[in-house]
Amino acid sequence: MVRLFGPLVGLFFAVALLWSFGNGAYTAITEPAPVTAEHEFHLHPKELDLASNGAFGRFDKQQLQRGFQVYKEVCATCHSLKQIAFRDLKAIGYSDAEVKAIAKQWATKATTFNPVTGDRGERDNIASDRIPTVYYAGQGVPPDLSLMTKARHDGGAYVYSLLTGYQEQPAELLKKFPDSKTPDGLHYNPYFANLNLAMPAPITTDGQVTYSDGTKASVDQMSKDVSAFLVWTAEPKLDKRKQTGWAVLGFLLMATVLAYLAKKNVWADKH
Ligand code: HEC
Repeated sequence: MVRLFGPLVGLFFAVALLWSFGNGAYTAITEPAPVTAEHEFHLHPKELDLASNGAFGRFDKQQLQRGFQVYKEVCATCHSLKQIAFRDLKAIGYSDAEVKAIAKQWATKATTFNPVTGDRGERDNIASDRIPTVYYAGQGVPPDLSLMTKARHDGGAYVYSLLTGYQEQPAELLKKFPDSKTPDGLHYNPYFANLNLAMPAPITTDGQVTYSDGTKASVDQMSKDVSAFLVWTAEPKLDKRKQTGWAVLGFLLMATVLAYLAKKNVWADKH
């Protein structure tokens, strides 16, 4: 009797498994997942060739400075960079004095809080402050951009594609999915996961910023530069990490050769 019990339990589980598999397969065949506008019209990021790409890539500081300028003059009206303090900008080539001046002149002031009276106030930013959150009254919530290029697949290229990807909703999409019209207050962009986002195109005209290094500030160039800058904010130590990586590989290679020579020596036949 007990000996029969084991196989019976096994059989029960095997049948349950088979049944649920059959059930799933049946639904998959008879009710295929609905095809949505996102399925058909969402695009993968375009190629973006940055100096920091690849195992030997290094940040191009000149480009990072241009990208910072675009961030400061365009994106910072809505987006914060909470992981970056003003003094971190020294790593992309600004001097102490420049960092101080940038912090002091920053449009969004640092908030202060007096624990005794409970009053809130404002003061100029100082070098050790993080790049502050902005009060934004428009549609949607502008996310902090510090780690954005890590949070999205192919981050740098994604930001670049998003910035240059705004367009009219294709007529074909509306014909096929009449219910998928971009809602009021949102903007069509095939690089955004659900095709419609709350951010209006931020970079729209050539010469929107004036670069001091003479680079022509085309829409494409500004979009590239700010994407490069956001790759840096997400991983400021990227250069160092690659350098260390190569040094470690070199060391391991040497250690392998030594180990091989030692092995040959130890096992040498010495009759
Ligand atoms: C007018 C305000 C505004 C400005 C200026 C602005 N953004 Fe945005 N941004 C938003 C809002 C709002 C969202 C949230 C959109 C959503 O979730 O629908 C957003 C979202 C984003 C996202 C996230 C997209 C995602 O995948 O979730 C990125 C990246 C971004 N902005 C980059 C930038 C960059 C770079 C600039 C400057 C060139 C910029 N933004 C300027 C308001 C702004």
